[in-house]
Amino acid sequence: MSVHKEVKRVTTHVLSAMKLRGEKISMLTSYDYSMAKLVDQAGCDVILVGDSASNVMAGNETTLPMTLDQMIYHGSSVRKAVNRALVVVDLPFGTYQGNSKEALHSAIRIMKETAADAVKLEGGKEIIESVDRILTAGIPVMGHLGLMPQSINRYGTYSVRAKEEEEANKLIEDAKLLEEAGCFAVVLEKIPAELGKKVAEMLTIPVIGIGAGNGVDGQVLVIHDMLGITQEFSPRFLRRYLNLAEEIKGAVAQYVDDVKSKDFPNDREQY
Ligand code: KIV
Repeated sequence: MSVHKEVKRVTTHVLSAMKLRGEKISMLTSYDYSMAKLVDQAGCDVILVGDSASNVMAGNETTLPMTLDQMIYHGSSVRKAVNRALVVVDLPFGTYQGNSKEALHSAIRIMKETAADAVKLEGGKEIIESVDRILTAGIPVMGHLGLMPQSINRYGTYSVRAKEEEEANKLIEDAKLLEEAGCFAVVLEKIPAELGKKVAEMLTIPVIGIGAGNGVDGQVLVIHDMLGITQEFSPRFLRRYLNLAEEIKGAVAQYVDDVKSKDFPNDREQY
């Protein structure tokens, strides 16, 4: 008799059932095998291979330089580590806007070459043709509205979005469009909490917030921010669960001292 216990994988259907019963959804980013393994083992429901890899892994100022090949590299590394969580990979800037055929091609490459469960795209009405086309191939799509980092050059700042009625109304219309098209969930980034709650109540699909208040169906954070690895980024919505930057620097400084003082390696640490 096998004692191996099957892990119940998180699917898009599991997420909608969670919304229905009022269970909040946890989501974090990961970009590599080792971190994704820990995040999955700790019970996070969704792992996003975000194009925020551009900032935290590659040191770019924006997410725009990220390429499809780089997202595939990160996505396939994460996929190999994950047994339970739903794995979502971002389509990077320039691989889906304005050309639905190219969008489908990009999404298919992500699915084939990473074995991810779904893709995420930023935008509403402007990219709905791309969303529709990707969905026709049976690829689950997560939307992303509010602050859309790939559009930073249009807005010029990373400040709170949709504070004015006109932008809030457009966001609501876009969220409805994404749901009608068949997206399984939508991320809302950096918008007033009241608007986040309104959209979550209006939609039947899960709404995951990052800086969108606690009235939404789940939360997402960038793993490097919540672990305190990044130090220069401190928006109000960020809760730091560790100060890993200090821990890592302390450990590295200790190692350097031990090497210089010839304390490392000691007799038990050599052959
Ligand atoms: O790329 C990313 O990490 C994201 C999250 C901030 C939602 O899109």
